[in-house]
Amino acid sequence: MLEAILLVGGKGTRLRPLTLTCAKPMIPTAGVPFLTHQLARAAAAGVEHVVLATSYRAETFSAHFGDGSQLGLRISYVTETEPLGTGGGIRNVAGLLESGPDDPVVIFNGDVLSGHDIGAQLALHREHDADVTLHLTEVDDPRAFGCVPLDDDGRVLEFLEKTPDPPTNRINAGCYVFRRSVIDAIPAGKVVSVERETFPGLLEAGAPVYGYVERAYWLDLGTPEAFVKGSRDLVLGTIASTALPGPVGERLVLEGAHVAADAQVTGGSTVGAGATVGAGAVVDGSVLLDGAVVEDGAVVRSSVVGAGAAVGRETVLDGVVVGEAARIGAHNELLAGARVWAGAELPEKAVRFSSDAS
Ligand code: GDD
Ligand code: MG
Repeated sequence: MLEAILLVGGKGTRLRPLTLTCAKPMIPTAGVPFLTHQLARAAAAGVEHVVLATSYRAETFSAHFGDGSQLGLRISYVTETEPLGTGGGIRNVAGLLESGPDDPVVIFNGDVLSGHDIGAQLALHREHDADVTLHLTEVDDPRAFGCVPLDDDGRVLEFLEKTPDPPTNRINAGCYVFRRSVIDAIPAGKVVSVERETFPGLLEAGAPVYGYVERAYWLDLGTPEAFVKGSRDLVLGTIASTALPGPVGERLVLEGAHVAADAQVTGGSTVGAGATVGAGAVVDGSVLLDGAVVEDGAVVRSSVVGAGAAVGRETVLDGVVVGEAARIGAHNELLAGARVWAGAELPEKAVRFSSDAS
């Protein structure tokens, strides 16, 4: 029986205000909590038992996923009262694992959308009889990730977490296969970083740690820009997911939503349950959460509009995050990087950048 651990205890600070009331992996992404896509992929790879390592907003996970049977999984939950870090979180769930000491256990960061072949990663792990096998991908700017140089046989030479001058573009993609006994060897009951302590410690001890390199679709959804892109790519089918609640296409319109006949909803946008898009409005590459309102003539591009939030008539948003139940009045213009706090109210014509502003 194959088991997996999902690390979902982070606070998701870069995604505030969306993560004020909701854990990052529970934010609806292409119509379902993000984690659903990862759980569906784990199930498809043969995982039967998943342990969720929760901390921040822990209760929201079990309330939604229950025993996991709807996804064909058995899900157990463990909550850290104080966050124990990535390594501490992994160690803290060891008591619920049923695998034997030499069995492989798959571990996922809970905010990664990846199309890589988990079965091939497991096969490589077994082939090398490794202690740990990490999925590695390549990115243009590796500074925000764990940089992982390899030798010619694919053995990991170093693990350099968020280093300013990375020696390679090859990075830790946040999916590991661990030998179960290696999980048990992480010190219990204290804060441990798997990236800064466990991996460097294993390498120093000469343990067999290998990289499984695959450049499939890969995205860390930790920032608003990445979150919007991930949702868009799921709706458009750029990355496949069996958890998508509708057919792949230009838009995903959930139950009870209302889109005016002459509104344009494109670019992989999602219109949440009960949300409305008014006459002549444009919604492009965006996420409207449940009950959001986009009034007539408004333009929403590459943005997230929180649950129950309202975007006023003729208002333009581009690259913006609007928190839950916020109200943006008519004729505003908010551009890349702006965040409107949950419940905030912006009067009409309060913010405009265009030269033709009147
Ligand atoms: N249970 C638990 N407890 N989970 C945690 C904790 C904790 O204290 N802290 C973080 N996590 C979870 C987060 O919820 C997330 O799913 C995962 O661990 C990784 O944390 P992030 O905060 O998203 O880390 P990152 O994106 O900066 O870096 C990590 O991921 C990169 C790939 O996306 C590192 O593993 C990098 O090495 C890696 O390149
Ligand atoms: Mg992350």
